Amino acid sequence: MSAANIVIALTKGRILEETLPLFAAAGIEPAEDIFKSRKLLFDTNLDNVKLMVIRGSDVPTYVEFGSADMGVAGKDLILEYGDEGFYEPLDLKIATCRLMTAEPVNRQPSLDRLKVATKFTNIAKRYFAEQGKQIELIKLNGALELAPSLGLADAIVDIVDTGRTLKANGLEPRDLIADVSSRVIVNKAAMKIKHAVIRDILGKLRQAVEAGG
Ligand code: PRP
Repeated sequence: MSAANIVIALTKGRILEETLPLFAAAGIEPAEDIFKSRKLLFDTNLDNVKLMVIRGSDVPTYVEFGSADMGVAGKDLILEYGDEGFYEPLDLKIATCRLMTAEPVNRQPSLDRLKVATKFTNIAKRYFAEQGKQIELIKLNGALELAPSLGLADAIVDIVDTGRTLKANGLEPRDLIADVSSRVIVNKAAMKIKHAVIRDILGKLRQAVEAGG
């Protein structure tokens, strides 16, 4: 019997540079240089495994609906999408950063309703609701760090890595919402139907993570 076909959705961009070496250590390598191609779907050295390369925010969608059997996405995007629709069996421990609130340096707490700018609207809504704080949400898609200095928002919810972007824009980190790293997610039906192949890939990836850690 031939091995089940598996499509794995990878997040493009910086995460991909850290993902591919782990996949190579696990015995999965794209048949051509992903960084030099405009293709979105790649053959690999394994006949039954293909790699898709898409935006991280689309990885959970492809995996939940089964167009991809497995995926690699940042925990931030998984939390924003909602983590009910798939399994999350493995932390690849790459692309680590923190999801935080940030405010202008030395901003004093105000009694007014906090205006929060973010692209992570679901996460922000949940977080401030848990804190019992009423907020006004402002959805932005990038350059969030500008919003407070231009008076659009009092605070932001964003990814912090080195903290340099915050500092350069007169902001400081405040509350930690979640530690972020890249996770492997698996379609629920595929986990049952293609169990042997998926378990094998997960086992090899786990070994690669442990060897590199
Ligand atoms: C992220 C984030 C911050 C920056 C933080 O942006 O939105 O702007 O990194 O990194 P630092 O703490 O090391 O300064 P990214 O470059 O990933 O692009 P994005 O705006 O598309 O999220």
